Amino acid sequence: MTDHERREARVEALLERMSLDQKIGQMTQPERMYIAPDEVKAFAIGSVLSGGGSWPGKNLPADWVAMNDAYWAASVQEDEAHLGIPILYGVDAIHGHNNVRGAVIFPHNIGLGAANDPELIRRIARVTALEILATGVEWTFAPTLAVARNDHWGRTYESWSEDPEIVSRLAGAFVEGLQHDLGTDAVVACAKHWVGDGGTTCGVDQGETTLPESELRRLHIAPYLEALRAGALTVMASYNSWNGEKCHGHRYLLTDVLKGELGFDGFVVSDWDGIDQLDDNYSEAVALGVNAGVDMFMVPEKWRHFIAELRAHVDSGRVPIERIDDAVRRILRVKLAYGLFDRPRPAERPWSNHSSFGSDAHREVAREAVRRSLVLLKNDGALPLRREARILVAGKSAHNVGFQCGGFSVDWQGSDGNQRVEGSSSIWEGIRDHAFQAVLSPDGSAADGGNFDVAVVVVGERPYAEGLGDVRRSKEVPRGSMAAGAAGVPGPGKLQPYAATLEHAVSHPEDLAVIQRIADRGIPVVTVLVSGRPLVVNPELDASRAFVVAWLPGSEGCAVSDVLFGDHDFTGRLSFSWPRADADNPNRGDAGADPLFPYGFGLSYGR
Ligand code: BGC
Ligand code: BGC
Repeated sequence: MTDHERREARVEALLERMSLDQKIGQMTQPERMYIAPDEVKAFAIGSVLSGGGSWPGKNLPADWVAMNDAYWAASVQEDEAHLGIPILYGVDAIHGHNNVRGAVIFPHNIGLGAANDPELIRRIARVTALEILATGVEWTFAPTLAVARNDHWGRTYESWSEDPEIVSRLAGAFVEGLQHDLGTDAVVACAKHWVGDGGTTCGVDQGETTLPESELRRLHIAPYLEALRAGALTVMASYNSWNGEKCHGHRYLLTDVLKGELGFDGFVVSDWDGIDQLDDNYSEAVALGVNAGVDMFMVPEKWRHFIAELRAHVDSGRVPIERIDDAVRRILRVKLAYGLFDRPRPAERPWSNHSSFGSDAHREVAREAVRRSLVLLKNDGALPLRREARILVAGKSAHNVGFQCGGFSVDWQGSDGNQRVEGSSSIWEGIRDHAFQAVLSPDGSAADGGNFDVAVVVVGERPYAEGLGDVRRSKEVPRGSMAAGAAGVPGPGKLQPYAATLEHAVSHPEDLAVIQRIADRGIPVVTVLVSGRPLVVNPELDASRAFVVAWLPGSEGCAVSDVLFGDHDFTGRLSFSWPRADADNPNRGDAGADPLFPYGFGLSYGR
């Protein structure tokens, strides 16, 4: 018997001993806040997740290990009604293990696309895997393989590039880095969101992607081929629709293409309440999702309701038992492939609570990623900075690690200030460590009296995640689009997109004001932009002698200085075309596209 045959035989042997309720439990994934360990056993739950910003106790690795240890212990208890099947715990570790206190936070994907190096991506994924394992967790909802075609989309920063070339180039390396050889130092990867998430009209999150099939394949499906080749064990369905039909209920895309044609034999997990959008009637939505090919259901709060509905559908024959068995086979196959049954309890695993979590060695990989992600758009000789120069450091993002990290950084929507992301450094702190005469003055007022050779002004966007980051041009967004941030944010504020234009001087006039205030004093300004996407920054560029795009560099802001001071050269190149105007939507290769800076652009010192 080959390993594969042995595993399949084990799957069948388990399946045979499972009751229908236990099978349905395996297909159910509640959120940690809504389920206790004894319920994991009582309902034979297959997986639990942490949503963005959801953590146990004091949010230290030990708290996470203890939490998953308790879930695990409940899941493996055996009695007549319950076969022990270890639980798989999932998190959004999308730029490092970003939910956890003291974790290393890497640049968001948009910056890593500018670095565009599979070998670096592999090392980032390795470090991320080890930090996940330090918390006793086994599964991350990453990599995001979105090919973001419209910078108005709030998730643009989760995308490596507007072009499938770079996304395909990095996809396999990321999966390999996470899953490694599926040994003790591996975690399970999840390629997401299948498929067309980055192609929605006007960049509306959870919106509609209208494309001929050949274009869907060329632009959005292509990167999955690499992730699957690398062995990605799970895939997440996408909130968007394709030509009017939601992906969560799309049998052709989920079953015929992904599982059939592409031969994917792992499992498909739904997105957060993703099936809810299939029908106003929840019962109907459940049937549509299962029958289309979703195998595991991220049903954070209403998991009991989901279980009852699915059970009723099987009893009535609306959902065939063969479909249930197929889903459970896939889930068991992944658990066995990962060796979950043979791993000790989380508290006893070799990497749990490991001292490498948040270590300097891990941070060094993130610093390298920061250096290599920076893109130099303009330099009239203001860069590199001299260490002995009198440097004024200004701008609201200069000393703000929360802004540097963006969304999905301890908090789902990110944070403001230097408290939340522990063990980090700000861009200002890096400059201060390089130049003993540097002065911090966020509003630039120090320029009025002082003598400065040069100013570094760090400006940009506030953090955001998902639809709350959408920039929605009110006249264009199609009627009936999902409200920004719907499905997720409770309470008021729910329907507010980030802005109505990509013109930074309109959405953030305070930034241009600081740049101008300093430039008006005759001090050469080096602008560093902290943002999750290309923005229209024509006036800011004009007022600056040099202009650096730092994207969302993460916890290691200090590394920006390594390049500003010339210890390292700029090697980052735009993986997104840079727009001239809000209405532009240039993408590489588009007929008539006239970007301000083309895809692939980036200056260097050239030494
Ligand atoms: C996002 C996914 C994420 C999931 C769990 C959803 O809202 O779209 O990318 O993995 O939540 O947090
Ligand atoms: C997000 C989760 C988040 C939740 C907050 C979801 O849409 O994907 O990560 O925790 O909303 O309510």
